[in-house]
Amino acid sequence: MKASEIRSQFLKFFEAKGHTIVPSSPVVPGDDPTLLFTNAGMNQFKDVFLGFDKRPYSRATTSQKCIRAGGKHNDLDNVGYTARHHTFFEMLGNFSFGDYFKHDAIQYAWELLTEVYKLPKEKLWVTVYAEDDEAYEIWNKTVGVPAERIVRIGDNKGARYASDNFWMMGDTGPCGPCTEIFYDHGPEIAGGPPGSPDEDGDRYIEIWNNVFMQFNRDEAGVMHKLPKPSVDTGMGLERLTAVLQHVHSNYEIDTFVNLLAAAKKAVDAAGGGDCDKDSPSLKVIADHIRACSFTVTDGVIPSNAGRGYVLRRIARRAIRHGYKLGARKPFFYTLVAALAKEMGDAYPELRQAEQRVTDVLKQEEEGFFRTIANGMEILEAALAGGAKVIDGETAFKLHDTYGFPVDLTADVCRERGVTVDSAGFDAAMQRQKDKARAAGKFKMAAGLEYTGANTTFHGYEHLAREGATVAALYVDGSPVDVARAGDDVVVVLDETPFYAESGGQVGDTGELRNATSRFVVEDTIKVQAAVFGHQGQLVEGELRVGDKVNAKVDADRRARTVRNHSATHLMHKALREVLGTHVQQKGSLVTADRTRFDFAHNQPVTDAEIAKIEALVNAEILANAATQARVLPIEEAQKTGAMMLFGEKYGDEVRVLDIGTSRELCGGTHVQRTGDIGLFKIVAESGIQAGVRRVEAVTGENALAYLQSLEGTVRQIAGSLKAAPAEVPARLGQVMEQVRSLEKELAALKGKLASSQGDELLQKAVDVKGLKVLAAVLDGADAKALRETMDKLKDKLKTAAIVLAAVDGGKVQLAAGVTADSIGKVKAGELVNFVAQQVGGKGGGKPDMAMAGGTDPTHLAKALDSVQGWVGERV
Ligand code: ALA
Repeated sequence: MKASEIRSQFLKFFEAKGHTIVPSSPVVPGDDPTLLFTNAGMNQFKDVFLGFDKRPYSRATTSQKCIRAGGKHNDLDNVGYTARHHTFFEMLGNFSFGDYFKHDAIQYAWELLTEVYKLPKEKLWVTVYAEDDEAYEIWNKTVGVPAERIVRIGDNKGARYASDNFWMMGDTGPCGPCTEIFYDHGPEIAGGPPGSPDEDGDRYIEIWNNVFMQFNRDEAGVMHKLPKPSVDTGMGLERLTAVLQHVHSNYEIDTFVNLLAAAKKAVDAAGGGDCDKDSPSLKVIADHIRACSFTVTDGVIPSNAGRGYVLRRIARRAIRHGYKLGARKPFFYTLVAALAKEMGDAYPELRQAEQRVTDVLKQEEEGFFRTIANGMEILEAALAGGAKVIDGETAFKLHDTYGFPVDLTADVCRERGVTVDSAGFDAAMQRQKDKARAAGKFKMAAGLEYTGANTTFHGYEHLAREGATVAALYVDGSPVDVARAGDDVVVVLDETPFYAESGGQVGDTGELRNATSRFVVEDTIKVQAAVFGHQGQLVEGELRVGDKVNAKVDADRRARTVRNHSATHLMHKALREVLGTHVQQKGSLVTADRTRFDFAHNQPVTDAEIAKIEALVNAEILANAATQARVLPIEEAQKTGAMMLFGEKYGDEVRVLDIGTSRELCGGTHVQRTGDIGLFKIVAESGIQAGVRRVEAVTGENALAYLQSLEGTVRQIAGSLKAAPAEVPARLGQVMEQVRSLEKELAALKGKLASSQGDELLQKAVDVKGLKVLAAVLDGADAKALRETMDKLKDKLKTAAIVLAAVDGGKVQLAAGVTADSIGKVKAGELVNFVAQQVGGKGGGKPDMAMAGGTDPTHLAKALDSVQGWVGERV
């Protein structure tokens, strides 16, 4: 039976038992910041278990794409070394949301395994949670599994996950005791039954986990009872398939056979020759192409943080294994096609994204291939000494300079029985971070101690506030009771209209004043999540804690900033419309001058696309819709379909912002109507790293100023060309044509000039023991003329060593030539270098002809004079 049939049989079995077949959710969890990647079938039902969400069904079944390569459930280190671990795998599951519980769950599982899949009963073992007598009784009495094949396992006080029979999705969330079903692959394979000291061997393999969801674990570790006891199960499709296809390793099942062959072919073609088809490295590659392709399909791109870094680590680990087998150029990305063929039917999104995924991985791979050889050399050198531990500095250097994630270094080391000093690595990393921080902009408000009340923010509606109270003052990072004129101060107010830097929008500037003092606010920063620090200088009087001040925001600067911020939302939406929904925000900076927006996209945005984006945004501006802001509980906000960002921490209540037809969660300040933006213009587009583009844009009077200055430039050019602005392109074409023809003419003249000088030079050659030596300047020559004259002189002088020089501005061009009969004595490369060194340059080349450059013409005459002596010493 093929894996695809096993998958569909599972779903059909549970469908017949009243379960709704639900499609797999993406490997990137849509709305769960607690989770790096989808790690189990139950993830998409988390809120249903918790009672926050309702579905039209109370029973469901899925085949879920899962990644376990980071976070709580991480199998990355095991891949390639065991028969059963993957970074990406498919989890078959059935779920009951307050419907059936232990009895039915266990009986369904037994029926499916023994009657549908027809597994021999005596090969199946089960574990139950140590205190779960109920599950034990069901297995033993109702199902009839003999006591010697039922193992009770405790939760080890939560020290381990998964195999301790108390399953948790992560540190928080739904959890409960579980019962696991194992398959005995037979005595010829090493390993002991669950709970025994040898349980980690490959003989007894866990195929199915049935979790009895009963609790919600909170951040403090407290277990709260779920509204209704539920069931969550997960069976690894690859493991089950291995059992049913009578093979022992997951890598021998049909899904992997083709993939492994494709991996071998790709590695061989990239330099591997005929690599060992049984190498564990091929398994690593075949596993990793699945994880990488599915993560990119679902919107992740390689980067240095978060999900992108997990992806990068997996990809680079695979590439390194290919390198180990001999690959010396990119090969990994070519496997996307083979995978799409293998799994595109079950997961059509993979086939749709095939080209994009290929491009993203190719870029990543090309980048890593630029440094991998040098990195491996350094690592090999460190390993050559026979040390048992690689020091942290070396591991860090490999990470920092050669792009070796530390677990990749550890992976190489493990093959030699060597470990990495990870504490040393962390320390080196920390030192670099500290250095970067010290070098970065010094933020006065960072790290201030404050224990008072929060600041009330009025800045959505108002730009000024009378009678705010000074809650705290800091000078040089320390709290003070009074600040004096001239001091650089951070002022915390009980209420303020000043927006503090966050969400990419810069902090407000402005003024705090009262009858006796004036404080210039240069920036506003969050001292704590809801405590606003006004940072700047006290220019007049004194300021004391408890004083009242009138706070006034620089309204013009704020207005420019909000125009840019609102335009950013519209642009984000337009980018997704024009380029595709893979466009995800990767960073943004909104200032009064412009907006800078970084996003995932794999190729330059074309001029036509930019024009479309500009048109869409400007159409929204013309529609002049009123901005709407709603503060909603996070669950409700999610339901509005608002754009959310991964890695952002959202509170319980969030602000849903509708600007034109865009909808985002955002705490920033915005225009009242889209028409307030005035005009939107993109001014720059560039790539900032693999897979990430940056667009910069301006609005309002900035956009006008930009267009006016552009027009000014065109007028200036037109003036110089003596043409009307509209005629500039044609006129410029003519001028360029003229320039090209003049250049040609000039080059011809230079050649003529050089050759006529060449004739004169013949007379200047000096005989040194039978060798003609000539060193001279050719006026007005370029490199080509030097070479041509050199050839002629060589022909005419027959046995000669020649140096020719030309001076252009502050630069010296040198050519040295030696006739073929003399290169045994004098080498042109050495000769040219000898002269070049005297004029501030360096050069070299072949024994008969060599070129060099220099930067110091003042020493040229002397340098040429020295040629005769130098040659004389050699003949
Ligand atoms: N959620 C359970 C697991 O992943 C079934 O093992």
